[in-house]
Amino acid sequence: MYKSKITGMGMYVPENEITNRDLTALMDTSHEWILERTGIESRRHIKKGDGNTTATMGVKASRIAIERSGIDKNDIELILFATLSPDYYFPGSGVIVQKELDIPTCPAMDIRNQCSGFIYALSTADQFIKTGMYKNILIIGSENHSGGLDMTTRGRGVSVIFGDGAGALVLSRSSSEETGILSTHLHSEGKYAEELSLIGPSTRRWVPEIMAANDAEDTSYYPYMNGQLVFKNAVVRFSEVIMEGLQENQMTPDQIDMLIPHQANLRISQFIQKKFGLTDDQVYNNIMRYGNTTAGSIPIAMTEAWEAGKIKSGDLVVLAAFGSGFTWGSALIRW
Ligand SMILES: CC(C)(COP(=O)(O)OP(=O)(O)OC[C@H]1O[C@@H](n2cnc3c(N)ncnc32)[C@H](O)[C@@H]1OP(=O)(O)O)[C@@H](O)C(=O)NCCC(=O)NCCS
Repeated sequence: MYKSKITGMGMYVPENEITNRDLTALMDTSHEWILERTGIESRRHIKKGDGNTTATMGVKASRIAIERSGIDKNDIELILFATLSPDYYFPGSGVIVQKELDIPTCPAMDIRNQCSGFIYALSTADQFIKTGMYKNILIIGSENHSGGLDMTTRGRGVSVIFGDGAGALVLSRSSSEETGILSTHLHSEGKYAEELSLIGPSTRRWVPEIMAANDAEDTSYYPYMNGQLVFKNAVVRFSEVIMEGLQENQMTPDQIDMLIPHQANLRISQFIQKKFGLTDDQVYNNIMRYGNTTAGSIPIAMTEAWEAGKIKSGDLVVLAAFGSGFTWGSALIRW
């Protein structure tokens, strides 16, 4: 079996910065409430007309990742695109990236696992490389949340949390046995499917039905989140799935050099940090600046951490995520 290795990373966030104070002009909220409950100070939102979409932000992040990996774009054998906010209901956003990057006929596939989407995509890519099927895979996590949020007081429990942005990486066959992805671990618990969801428009609530109802109070086309249930499950599942990864590799928490958690809520990250006895330098957080960018959050954070020199050769890097589905997962990487 082959081993896979990250050979290039990139990120892109829209320029338009929305601070907590900006949100107070739209809804009944406060900088202090948002900061205290989530750790978020600002986030980026696509500005109407700036040309950014989920797919095009993914393209921008991908170009950087491909350049840093040193491969030719035509050496990419598979595109995996993780998002909950695709440009179109169909086709997926992976094929739009393929079109924009002008890569002829490699397969492109979308992954629908929300906040865990990037880890699901990384795990999927790792399997394709392990078996020898592909040598270079482009993985993207990107979200345009801002276009679909209820930016009124009614939606404040959800809308203040989410931001737009994209991250990408190239996963390649490794020539070394020692470095690369050590293992990935994935879980879902479908009984909570509706606890963090966007249920309409969908094939259960098809567009003509919604249009005929013309109901301005219909919130089914905005995301719904049972925040406290999500929080409670997140802290348990994050811990479990990190432990699962460590145990699989006969490792202990003190061997972690860098934990990059999905940026759901700073309080969740701090809980995990404390539980695993990690220092501030061993956990990378950027939710303060970007909010929760769902599938984009881990690759954005990884790119920033790497650019800042916080990930060094030989480090044990642990990724972990939890989110809608519920879904969760982890990845252990020897850098
Ligand atoms: C969303 C979250 C921050 C809300 O914090 P909370 O302490 O659970 O807050 P609650 O939902 O109980 O709301 C408490 C009060 O604040 C109010 N409130 C909600 N959003 C608000 C906002 N943006 N500004 C001000 N007040 C707000 C509520 O209306 C409620 O008021 P009430 O007590 O008068 O009814 C928290 O539940 C959370 O972080 N959950 C996990 C979210 C997450 O990680 N999601 C991503 C998963 S990948």
